[in-house]
Amino acid sequence: MPVKLDKKIRSLIKRDRKVMLTTTREPYPYDFVPEHGEGDYVYDISGNRFIDFSSFIAVYNFGVNSRAAVREAMKKQMDSLIHPAFTDYYAELPVVFAEKLVRMLPRSFGKVFFSNSGTEANEAAIKFSRLFTKRQYIISFYGAFHGRTMGSLSLTASKTVHRERFGPFNSTVQAPYAYCYRCPLHKEESECCLQGIDVIRNQILGKTVSEKECAAIFFEPVQGEGGYIVPPKEFVTELRKLADEHGILLVADEVQSGYMRTGRFLALDHFGVEADIYTFAKAIAGGMPMGATVTRKSLGDIPSGAHANTFGGNLIAVAAANANINYIKKNMASLKRDSKEKGSLIMKRLNQMKERYEIVGDVRGLGMMIGVELVKNKHTKEPAIKEREGILDYCFENNLILLPAGISTIRIVPPLTMSKQNIEKGLDVLEAAIKKFSA
Ligand SMILES: Cc1ncc(COP(=O)(O)O)c(C=O)c1O
Repeated sequence: MPVKLDKKIRSLIKRDRKVMLTTTREPYPYDFVPEHGEGDYVYDISGNRFIDFSSFIAVYNFGVNSRAAVREAMKKQMDSLIHPAFTDYYAELPVVFAEKLVRMLPRSFGKVFFSNSGTEANEAAIKFSRLFTKRQYIISFYGAFHGRTMGSLSLTASKTVHRERFGPFNSTVQAPYAYCYRCPLHKEESECCLQGIDVIRNQILGKTVSEKECAAIFFEPVQGEGGYIVPPKEFVTELRKLADEHGILLVADEVQSGYMRTGRFLALDHFGVEADIYTFAKAIAGGMPMGATVTRKSLGDIPSGAHANTFGGNLIAVAAANANINYIKKNMASLKRDSKEKGSLIMKRLNQMKERYEIVGDVRGLGMMIGVELVKNKHTKEPAIKEREGILDYCFENNLILLPAGISTIRIVPPLTMSKQNIEKGLDVLEAAIKKFSA
């Protein structure tokens, strides 16, 4: 049934605009006021039901409002102790969870720092890499999104609105990512892949930053906000080689791509490469605020008091994270299989749309992290920005929640647990919208 926006929704939005200082809703302000959700669906305050292809910004990886076991674990913890002041005192649950988290990573990983968000997980990674290497510069990529606090914002380079008037920034330099559909250096798609590595090696390290001063390279194994871009394998393996050549740490921001999103615990697992530091947030605690920074054991420790926070290791968040990781461990095989099968189903349908409609320029993805880039013309690749807006609106009006990414990409990130029928239903709505705006 098409979505009806009643007075209740309109009045809430009016009150919100009066009192809230800023949000990230513009320029796609869906009139979406979710009230409750379960599994594949979310309902708004007026009772409209939607299929969720967003996982609430890649957070509900295992179903909207998370698993019942995750909610139960939080409820149970609530009555015994909420806040353990973990960086000052000891507590069992954060240690239990940290032990499980490191077991999901390559064997050489072993030390965990807890925080409350993705940006904080990256702030910690910035500080730790400086401390470990005694160097100050960080390299990141154009299109990257690592967060909005000053350190991680210095690395973020996906939209100027994030940075405008907030400088000066920390010592960072950006390099081109392997966005081969639109090679930043205007190479053919097949030649594009290693250009970013050449820029780091010959331009950045050769001319701007002394290798003796470069602490880390931060990257997203699949670029998220920048447009759901999957780099070729050689790009990632060469990045690892380059980092090793110069004693630079490689930091994989798995905040959006991790936690089974691509069908593996780490997106980086697909590339046969290990990082030196991993950062997590979003899906880690089933919707509770939590971040984690995990370092290679050989890097050593951070001196006591050098970095900490009040709420990291909060017991409600950790109880949720612990139940969440138990679910992953128990269902690893089926999650991998599902993500492969459902991801292929989505890619197949989108590739058919690419054949049928001029507006579908590129379809790319890994597991259930999939992007469809819209263009006005397949040859010129002019971004179809207005058309994307129309498509997102049409889908919303027809009970499908989707999110944008990059200049003209739509991201498709349903919960991994979504039924194939609902995936097909959602894709039917998306195809109807694409057909309408192709005309
Ligand atoms: C890859 C990546 N890193 C970091 C962040 C920042 O996370 P948070 O919003 O929790 O600070 C995000 C958020 O979208 C992200 O996608």
